[in-house]
Amino acid sequence: MKDVLYREQKEYLESFNNETNKLLLEMEEFADKNIVPILSRDSAKLMELLVQMYKPERVLELGTAIAYTTIRIAGNLKKGSKIHTIEFSEDNEKLAKAYVKKSGLSKKIRLLFGDAKEVMPGLKKKYDFIFLDADKEDYLALFEMAMKLLKKNGVIFVDNLLWHGYAASKEVPEKYKTSTKYIRDFNKIFMNHPQLNTTLLPVGDGIGLGIKIK
Ligand SMILES: C[S@@+](CC[C@H](N)C(=O)[O-])C[C@H]1O[C@@H](n2cnc3c(N)ncnc32)[C@H](O)[C@@H]1O
Repeated sequence: MKDVLYREQKEYLESFNNETNKLLLEMEEFADKNIVPILSRDSAKLMELLVQMYKPERVLELGTAIAYTTIRIAGNLKKGSKIHTIEFSEDNEKLAKAYVKKSGLSKKIRLLFGDAKEVMPGLKKKYDFIFLDADKEDYLALFEMAMKLLKKNGVIFVDNLLWHGYAASKEVPEKYKTSTKYIRDFNKIFMNHPQLNTTLLPVGDGIGLGIKIK
């Protein structure tokens, strides 16, 4: 698998990591050992800063995994604000429940179990901040649903838009061809969406950041 940054730059940025939260460190270690894809530290830090700056009252996450980013976001929400997060893997849902309990942030987190494509039509109230981090073949469908659920001036944050470097690469290994096509198709729509002002940041695996202007 490729990296978006050169190794030297990646290591330099990592040298500034000063995470001290024991639960987050434990979760990072668990994810690493068990090959659970979670948001990279630099992207997670960017997301935390955006949450601190933007102060969303209602956050929606599509793709909980073990609730690493759910807990990071919840830890930065103001009193009374909430994150709803959707996951369809039973194993991940169990792990997420246990970690959320351990975090002491249960009051700020609502775990929703099921395929986001089926759960989202049942969500009626709009959100201030939506984080899309699910299966790549679902990105377009989930994005379209997310746009309906995003408030005007709301923020959308999407992971993996440089897709290990393959989104921009001429040579894509067979194994990544289909997923790379999904990401490239998604990027064209995301970056040219008439209701969004967007950018694609070379942070982590490539972060798509947008604000709903219309
Ligand atoms: C990249 S991981 C999420 C990581 C998490 N956001 C974090 O950074 O800590 C993607 C997760 O989304 C789940 N997922 C993928 N497609 C989904 C869908 N359509 N509905 C619900 N969950 C989905 C997968 O089971 C997986 O646990």
